[in-house]
Amino acid sequence: MPVVTFHNEHKTFEVEQGVNLREFMLKVGIPPYRPIDRALNCRGHNLCGTCCVEIVGNRGTSQRGQDEEATLRGNFAIAHEIQNDTRLACQTMIMNDMTVKTHPLLPIDWPETKHRLTATGIAAFFLLAFLFMFGVMFFDMIKMY
Ligand code: FES
Repeated sequence: MPVVTFHNEHKTFEVEQGVNLREFMLKVGIPPYRPIDRALNCRGHNLCGTCCVEIVGNRGTSQRGQDEEATLRGNFAIAHEIQNDTRLACQTMIMNDMTVKTHPLLPIDWPETKHRLTATGIAAFFLLAFLFMFGVMFFDMIKMY
């Protein structure tokens, strides 16, 4: 049976092969989430990225998929730099012995973040311009009738 070591918590467990890491962590009382994320997370559906962990050496896990990588990079304006051993606990299967570091800090990917913010700013500008023109037309119509 694979042995899973939680580095920060100083705990080691034996577990069946193929078990989902997030479910196992919840079962043994090691929260995959930071306190602020415990109530607001996607419950293991690869949407929020709050169950991020570091698998030391990227050993003993299933492969990381493209959807998981996209979620790790960030779904909103702020993009994160990720390493090969950065994983989502909810998308990781325990295949062999592994060491897990919970709650790693992900550095911000500034070039990608600036790109995303620029795109968001342009979209917001056109939306506001449209709303302004619609408002002007609406009030003009009211004035006419
Ligand atoms: S719980 Fe939301 S991405 Fe893992």
